[in-house]
Amino acid sequence: MSGLVVRYSSSPRSDPACQIHLSHIYLTGGNKMTLLEEAQRVADEFEFTSEQLKTAVVEFRRLMDLGLKNNDEAMTMIPTFVSDVPTGTEKGTFLALDIGGTNLRVCSIHLQGDGTFHLVQSKSAIPKAMMIGSSHDLFSFIAERIESFIREHHEDKFDCTEPEHMLQLGFTFSFPVNQTAVNKGVVLRWTKGFNIPDAVGVDVVDLLQRAIDAKSLPVKVAALVNDTVGALMARAYAAPKGTESLIGAIFGTGTNGAYVENMENVHKLEKAEHQTPTMVINTEWGAFDNAMRVLPATPYDNALDHASVNPGYQMYEKRISGMFLGEIFRQAIISLTTASDPGMGGASLFNGEASKQLNLPFSLDTSVLSAISEDESPDLATVKKVVQEQLGVSAGLEAIETLQAVQLVSRAIGRRAARLSAIALCAIISASGRLSSSPTSKVDIGVDGSVVEFYPNFEEMVREAIREVLGEEKEGRLTFGLAKDGSGVGAALCALMARKQQEMGIRYSADELLKEKGEI
Ligand code: BGC
Repeated sequence: MSGLVVRYSSSPRSDPACQIHLSHIYLTGGNKMTLLEEAQRVADEFEFTSEQLKTAVVEFRRLMDLGLKNNDEAMTMIPTFVSDVPTGTEKGTFLALDIGGTNLRVCSIHLQGDGTFHLVQSKSAIPKAMMIGSSHDLFSFIAERIESFIREHHEDKFDCTEPEHMLQLGFTFSFPVNQTAVNKGVVLRWTKGFNIPDAVGVDVVDLLQRAIDAKSLPVKVAALVNDTVGALMARAYAAPKGTESLIGAIFGTGTNGAYVENMENVHKLEKAEHQTPTMVINTEWGAFDNAMRVLPATPYDNALDHASVNPGYQMYEKRISGMFLGEIFRQAIISLTTASDPGMGGASLFNGEASKQLNLPFSLDTSVLSAISEDESPDLATVKKVVQEQLGVSAGLEAIETLQAVQLVSRAIGRRAARLSAIALCAIISASGRLSSSPTSKVDIGVDGSVVEFYPNFEEMVREAIREVLGEEKEGRLTFGLAKDGSGVGAALCALMARKQQEMGIRYSADELLKEKGEI
């Protein structure tokens, strides 16, 4: 019997309730689709071609320009009021506080002035309830963690009465904020599963300083830092001599990037134009193309978006970052367990069985994809183990095709994430003109995050996509360096830069500049 198999998926650009379109039509031609063919069909849905890449890079540049002009764009292009990257010679001891994912870190960093540093830290999990509770509870919890840290490592500072001798703290807060000074910024929205409505529109440095002062701690919040800015600063500090770092990028629980922009292009900050020639911009690229003009949308992406806390937002991030890849994978795998229409006689993954774990939304971590994708063994022993232990499935695992099918899908999702990541990098690099300024010029990128660090061959796949857009010669002039501890060391460096800028009389605060001009 031959058959026509029709699959439906909702359209990403319209209300799924109102419109559906055919996403796959194929003839089985009388043969059963094998499991591997089914898996290949799903993997093919994650293809992102060179042409698509090039179109997306053009769109990214358009949205960069818009964000640099206007204040209310989705891809926010936030001025950080940090005027430049460090040189590696910076010295001093600073505190850093890092909140941006599931953990809270308090660190003390001693910058040794030769590109190296000494760091002590304490890490605690942020209770789930605090991620969606009140700002008072969250910031009181944070102040408690800071207190116990300084009691252990800087007890002597409790005697300190003069503000300038207090511990200076760089606050890495990895969510979108409207930053109006190096130490000031109001929360625009929450991402990555956080949702604390009473903090939206409030200065996050003020929330933290108040909680610190309520405990009379000898700490002054000197700089508000996004983790991407931290990554850029940390990489610039530690990079080999002669390397000029342009971008700091996070591919972890979330994704985002910061880079050094010429002030003349930051049209929305015209008033600060002549203070310094450059400024670090936090792009908030996770929100790139929320309008879905160029990003791909499989049925699995759409299902994830509908189930997320912020449907329609962070659409780029939802295809790239660690918080979401496991869920895309889960959706795709589930579709394979129900792939065959029994009347057509097709094949189903795990003999059609889905475990409780597999049916649980957001239950799979990206480390599952990393482990599955990495396995090169002939019997795919690791894939089998991960499927049993993490997906909670045992049916059908005696057939190698089952394991191959799972790996095929996992690799396709990881590869697409890497190719999509290249869009932002290509756009920023080409907009900067740095690789075109001379045939020997180089561009350095500091990266951090679990996806880039642990997903197998992530950097190589990003590079492959960059080659397709910028060409092999230019790609060869890029260096990537892991900006380990960017959110600690980078925050310390921002605290130091803030002090330096103050000493140099650079006021770099939108409020101060407007006040000076008598406009507020
Ligand atoms: C946040 C960014 C952050 C990125 C990486 C995103 O969800 O909006 O501010 O830099 O995650 O942590």
